[in-house]
Amino acid sequence: MTRVIIYSGKGGTGKTTISAATAALLAASGRRTLVLSSDPAHSLADVVGIAVSRDRPTPIAPGLYALEIDTIYEWRHNLGGFQQFVASSYSNRGVDRSTAAELANQPGLDEILALQRVMSEAQSGRWDAIVVDTAPTGNTLRLLAYPELIIGGETGKKFFRVYRGLANVARPFRRDLPDDRFFDEVGALMQRMEDLSAFLVSPEISIRLVLNPEKLPLLETRRAYTFLNLYGLLLDAVMVNKILPTRADLGSYFDYWTGLQRGYIGEIETSFMPTPIFKTVLQDGEPIGVERLLAVAEATFGSQDPGAILYDERPIWLEQWNDDGDAGLYELCLRLPFLADEQVELARAGTDLTVTIDRIQRTIALPRILYDCELGDYRYEDGVLRLEFREGLNELIPEPTGDVRVEAA
Ligand SMILES: Nc1ncnc2c1ncn2[C@@H]1O[C@H](COP(=O)(O)OP(=O)(O)OP(=O)(O)O)[C@@H](O)[C@H]1O
Ligand SMILES: [Mg+2]
Repeated sequence: MTRVIIYSGKGGTGKTTISAATAALLAASGRRTLVLSSDPAHSLADVVGIAVSRDRPTPIAPGLYALEIDTIYEWRHNLGGFQQFVASSYSNRGVDRSTAAELANQPGLDEILALQRVMSEAQSGRWDAIVVDTAPTGNTLRLLAYPELIIGGETGKKFFRVYRGLANVARPFRRDLPDDRFFDEVGALMQRMEDLSAFLVSPEISIRLVLNPEKLPLLETRRAYTFLNLYGLLLDAVMVNKILPTRADLGSYFDYWTGLQRGYIGEIETSFMPTPIFKTVLQDGEPIGVERLLAVAEATFGSQDPGAILYDERPIWLEQWNDDGDAGLYELCLRLPFLADEQVELARAGTDLTVTIDRIQRTIALPRILYDCELGDYRYEDGVLRLEFREGLNELIPEPTGDVRVEAA
């Protein structure tokens, strides 16, 4: 079975660099490895220092291959009819055809097409490991969990079946209705989305989030961390990149910045525990070319195998309780195995919740469904902190300024 590792994170944090470095180390340890970029603004070639094909994997080093997925190519090969139909329905409304073709590239579909290529490479049997470098998107990542959402899930499927039936009946009277090629392609797309959903939750696939020790990447990564976990995707590591070195010979010039970074690294550690955290120091030159990438990966992973599943438990999940016709009751569960059963303090600020136990403080981004819910009791059982949330009591989202102290107990 092919091990698939997907790196995701905010723009410029080092996804491409860390992906290529991980792949270089995997290949150096004798695994047939493909590093594949799904970012339409490709930079994989720049990082490995060799021109990379958009069609067939390009050899980079012994056992190491790279591929930059061309979604326009994948579109044409997989969804030409679909695109044409969308384009022609827009052009009926006075949008010219070239703009219409652009509109037919629904956000998210690019990513889906790229992931389908990942799936087919994984199923080809050609690779021991595939490392995926993604585009800097916070939101389309959630599509990974439910690719079928793009076409409306079960409801969409039903609609599609009915629509196809109606189109067949009505076509003699209306010429702008889609033809069979459209329906065949959309039908096949739905099937592949289902396969893709199943593929993404298979146990050999994990996601790693890349961030820098700075405020905005930390906030975004917290949100990604919560929803990936809630959607049941396996997140097995958090990668902190571009950490400033602290060496005596560097003098005091960077003291302010290293101090600031130290603070954020502390927050990162408490925000994502018990998920393992790997740190990469800002190099003294651009990490370009296989040799330098290998050095980055070795320093980052140390004695750990970068291809291992580094963590396989769910640190956050949501349970729902139905109180016969009552307002919804949820339990947000946080795995905190190291807690002594001490006084837990909960502070909610806007859409974040800070849990303080002894001197450990952990801030998590709340799932959206809990934004309007009132925080109630908590209990700590078998290494899991369970927080009750009740729907409908709290009409307004609290202002994100200042802490709203809620003493639960
Ligand atoms: N540890 C590091 N030390 C020094 N430079 C680094 C390090 N990590 C990344 N860089 C540099 O930072 C820049 C951005 O890195 P990279 O392209 O890997 O980020 P990215 O997250 O893929 O960006 P994008 O979101 O644009 O795809 C590059 O110039 C890269 O060489
Ligand atoms: Mg990149």
